[in-house]
Amino acid sequence: MTVFYEYKRITTKKNLIFQEVIVNGWVRYFRSNRFIIMNDGSTLKDLQIIVMESNFSKELLKKITIGIALQIRGIFTESTGKKQLAEVISTVIQIYNKVSVSEINKTILQPKFHKPETLRDQAHLRFRTKLFSSIMRIRHQLSFCAHEYFYYQGFFYIHTPIITSSDAEGVGGMFKVTIFNLNDLPKDDQQYIDHTKDFFGHETYLSVSGQLEGETAALSLGQIYTFGPTFRAENSNTLRHLSEFWMIEPEIAFYEITDNMNLAEDILNYFLIKILKRCKEDIYYLKSKEDMLLERLQLIVDNSFCRISYTEAITILTSQPKIKHTIHWGIDLLSEHERYLVEHFCRPIILLDAPAEGKAFYMRLNDDEKTVSSMDILFPRIGEVIGGSQREERYELLLNRMQTLDIYEKPYWWYLDTRRFGSVPHSGFGLGFDRLVQFITGILNIRDIIPFPRTPKNAEF
Ligand code: 4AD
Ligand code: MG
Repeated sequence: MTVFYEYKRITTKKNLIFQEVIVNGWVRYFRSNRFIIMNDGSTLKDLQIIVMESNFSKELLKKITIGIALQIRGIFTESTGKKQLAEVISTVIQIYNKVSVSEINKTILQPKFHKPETLRDQAHLRFRTKLFSSIMRIRHQLSFCAHEYFYYQGFFYIHTPIITSSDAEGVGGMFKVTIFNLNDLPKDDQQYIDHTKDFFGHETYLSVSGQLEGETAALSLGQIYTFGPTFRAENSNTLRHLSEFWMIEPEIAFYEITDNMNLAEDILNYFLIKILKRCKEDIYYLKSKEDMLLERLQLIVDNSFCRISYTEAITILTSQPKIKHTIHWGIDLLSEHERYLVEHFCRPIILLDAPAEGKAFYMRLNDDEKTVSSMDILFPRIGEVIGGSQREERYELLLNRMQTLDIYEKPYWWYLDTRRFGSVPHSGFGLGFDRLVQFITGILNIRDIIPFPRTPKNAEF
């Protein structure tokens, strides 16, 4: 019986040798009218198809070009070449569709080095490149690991809404969701829009975080997580900011900040150990582009994270002449500071107890009444990979803080209710999924690890 095979399955099955197989894929190149190098995306390794020239018409062979999709029927054998594990001696070649040969040279399908910026400009084709397909396989595996971890730890996966009326982070930059055509109004009049006539009957936005809704679930189900896209309309054009990014957010009842830290460290370790094991081929390929990749990943696995308070971090940074920007207690740490701390301790940092002023309203006020029970995890290269806290579970204090920050209570009545009906200490965090993929793959720009990046002035495809 002839069976359809993915290369990954074919190359790992010794008992298929000398069996007839059918494979599909796209041609990377066609050498000497004899070797077709194909790939179907299931693995980094290509499959070599042997073509006996005399068995096929000249017209057919002429049509086989870079980028074309083929179905090959043939006999599977072990390869004597070093570059591929296996080959198929073709008996039937079927072409799926033509390729625009005159234009192929202008695309990234040409098998040569292309700058990441060029790949980004052809985001619709870059899945076919070795680099991007490797990143995508790792990204996929990491998503699976997240669900796997939580599943086995007894967490419930909650789908929190994407459209929301609350601003969890107070980041300011939220994308508005409306059915009104705002272009019809002069800018100055936009504040007078009557949102009671809008689709939802009040102002709505794309969510910046699933946390607030996640908290309500955790305060009933115990331990939950969300994993979805979040949106920020900040004008941050950096190597680590996206306007649409994916976040993993666990939230756990009866957890204090130390439990929260332990969980975060355990998850990150788990992810790295699994990826190093399950994505060896792709990781080694990426290492060939970025020398120190494995050492950096191993650093996380081999070391416990360094836990220091914001105040201690400021003391360390103030004594460093190398630091350019002025430091004083109360500032938001800049990426220069984060980088210095990580390098200083040679391992990831968990930065605790930041000044209340710069942090979100839901973080638990510490006894000093100046700081909150926050935790930010800083990694080499990417900086903050996790932001979280113990939550303010005391109704009066939470309300107080919202009033101080001028947060209008009305949209949060349901959130405040959770503090009135059986409130308990609880904690959680948000793990920047894209930043973690960036770290694991060693890719410099966050735009190059997500299929279709959304950044300021960029959402074409
Ligand atoms: O620190 P953030 O803003 O925390 C929250 O949103 C909390 N509500 C999470 C929680 O406690 N449940 O974001 C969490 C993480 C950051 O540490 C960072 O890794 C990532 O999300 N992140 C971004 N990643 C890509 N592009 C952006 N614009 C990001 N903003 C935050
Ligand atoms: Mg943060």
